[in-house]
Amino acid sequence: MPTTLITNIASLVTNDPSQGDGSPIGLLTDAAVVLDGENVAWVGPAAKAPAADTTYDAENRAVIPGFVDSHSHLVFAGDRTQEFNARMSGRSYSAGGIRTTVAATRAASDEELEANVVRYLAEALRQGTTTFETKSGYGLTTEHEARALRIASAHTDEVTYLGAHIVSPDYAEDPAAYVELVTGEMLDACAPHARWIDVFCEKGAFDGDQARAILTAGKAKGLHPRIHANQLSYGPGVQLAVELDAASADHCTHLTDADVDALAQGDTVATLLPGAEFSTRAEWPDARRLLDAGATVALSTDCNPGSSFTSSVPFCIALAVRDMGMTPDEAIWSATAGGAAALRRDDVGRIAVGARADLALLDAPSHVHLAYRPGVPLVTRVWRRGEPVA
Ligand code: NIG
Ligand code: FE
Repeated sequence: MPTTLITNIASLVTNDPSQGDGSPIGLLTDAAVVLDGENVAWVGPAAKAPAADTTYDAENRAVIPGFVDSHSHLVFAGDRTQEFNARMSGRSYSAGGIRTTVAATRAASDEELEANVVRYLAEALRQGTTTFETKSGYGLTTEHEARALRIASAHTDEVTYLGAHIVSPDYAEDPAAYVELVTGEMLDACAPHARWIDVFCEKGAFDGDQARAILTAGKAKGLHPRIHANQLSYGPGVQLAVELDAASADHCTHLTDADVDALAQGDTVATLLPGAEFSTRAEWPDARRLLDAGATVALSTDCNPGSSFTSSVPFCIALAVRDMGMTPDEAIWSATAGGAAALRRDDVGRIAVGARADLALLDAPSHVHLAYRPGVPLVTRVWRRGEPVA
């Protein structure tokens, strides 16, 4: 395997607390990294770097771990521009809009869905995302959910079965029968293509008992739970997530003190998705409260055509710092190591010997610029599995 030395790094976020300043982001200055094939082989001061087959000069700029976007919904067709326009004229967001995308997605060919996934992944990669999770949830029939997962699994290992996004319009009169489908025939068809099972636990979607039944059935089929919880209102989702040892409770916008305590004490990551609050003009999740209580926080895009049509982790970092009480260091950690924790991965989200060689070079002297210079395309080069890809 040829080795590559990336040197002249003004500031390097390693997320390895044994490096540099000893903070959680393990910040090294005047640093270098050696990539050996798909993995990181060496990290340290540039002056002590070993020789390698090729050298890349970072020209005194910042390098960070590739972003780990642990929550997106990329298998869809159509868009919801009209709904967005209506919201920006004062209408509020509701889960009902999902039906519009379900209709468009069912009508789309495999090729159209595949092309969409490829397009949004390329967009995300250019903005520094090297690991991403994506979900079904816009098919809501056995055939269409399995198709979505098959398409997603050609592009990532982090695939989530979300047959329980809303009750299918075909079952509007009999939600219990839809839960039976989601936990029976649909689950059987979908489980082979997925690693995770998710449910939208919310008024207008699935209640706590239904969510418990769905996640428990998924667990019995070898899927691991994650959950859309406490997005639009207070509810049982977060506590259920912790009880079932879900990897992640996602949104976490409406939390009681008991919810915060549960997240702080359990192993469930609180994944915050500020693109959704931005695009629905909703109240921000309180990252500061979660961090101060000791919860692990991840930051992701929720990229979907309804509530958060952004693939940009840097944009989410800027929002989290400006409006959710996070420091730039906390936000960068949450968008990298935090996302990895939400996917129960330790091979990504950090730059350390043996970790995957997933890195982003910023056209800036430090990672702080991601929040300091919002909206500026600072990601200038991306390595994934050791290969320069964007
Ligand atoms: O995570 N909350 C549920 N699902 C998505 C929105 C889906 C949509 O509106 O199409 C979310 O925000
Ligand atoms: Fe979502």
